[in-house]
Amino acid sequence: MEECYKLGLAKSIGICNYGVKKLTKLLEIATFPPAVNQVEMNPSWQQGKLREFCKQKGIHVSAWSALGAYKIFWGSGAVMENPILQDIAKAKGKTIAQVALRWVYQQGSSAMAKSTNRERMKQNLDIFDFELSEEDLERISQVPQRRQYTGDMWLSENGSCKTLEELWDGDV
Ligand SMILES: NC(=O)c1ccc[n+]([C@@H]2O[C@H](COP(=O)([O-])OP(=O)(O)OC[C@H]3O[C@@H](n4cnc5c(N)ncnc54)[C@H](OP(=O)(O)O)[C@@H]3O)[C@@H](O)[C@H]2O)c1
Repeated sequence: MEECYKLGLAKSIGICNYGVKKLTKLLEIATFPPAVNQVEMNPSWQQGKLREFCKQKGIHVSAWSALGAYKIFWGSGAVMENPILQDIAKAKGKTIAQVALRWVYQQGSSAMAKSTNRERMKQNLDIFDFELSEEDLERISQVPQRRQYTGDMWLSENGSCKTLEELWDGDV
């Protein structure tokens, strides 16, 4: 990727699913540090530690599964059925998806929300006419934390990651 960057074939370098440990290793050898790290991030997996590290290093964090992979086989309703988010959404006249995506935006991150439905796509973009208050943010910080995507399928006795601890740099 650095060769592509040097040749002008890539404007920036992006990585995904790097935890603090792997990112530290990468930064030790990188000539051109990555511009963005895309990781699972949503109100039910807030990535506070990793985001703080990326902020210090000037790396933008982009959130995948910003809605907690709702109704996807490995996801859950941890975001979309969360009572705190439901409560805030009701008070603001917004949907839970909009509150979750606004939360990501107010953390300084960008969100990837997937929808196959035109109306829900529009809804997911319509998050710039309201703001979450300090009190809302404080309440959202109380949402129980759990990764949606555990990553078990990437573990192998003969591979580079034998345990979930190794896969996620201890952040499990
Ligand atoms: N880099 C990585 O390792 C990685 C890993 C996982 C995912 N991703 C990327 O991240 C993107 C998003 O993640 P994701 O698809 O896993 O999960 P997600 O965006 O959190 O959730 C998608 C689910 O939410 C539903 N949905 C979307 N908007 C909604 C709304 N406003 N109200 C109710 N339901 C809504 C979708 O259904 P409908 O389609 O029916 O609306 C779909 O079932 C994907 O496109 C994927 O490419 C990257």
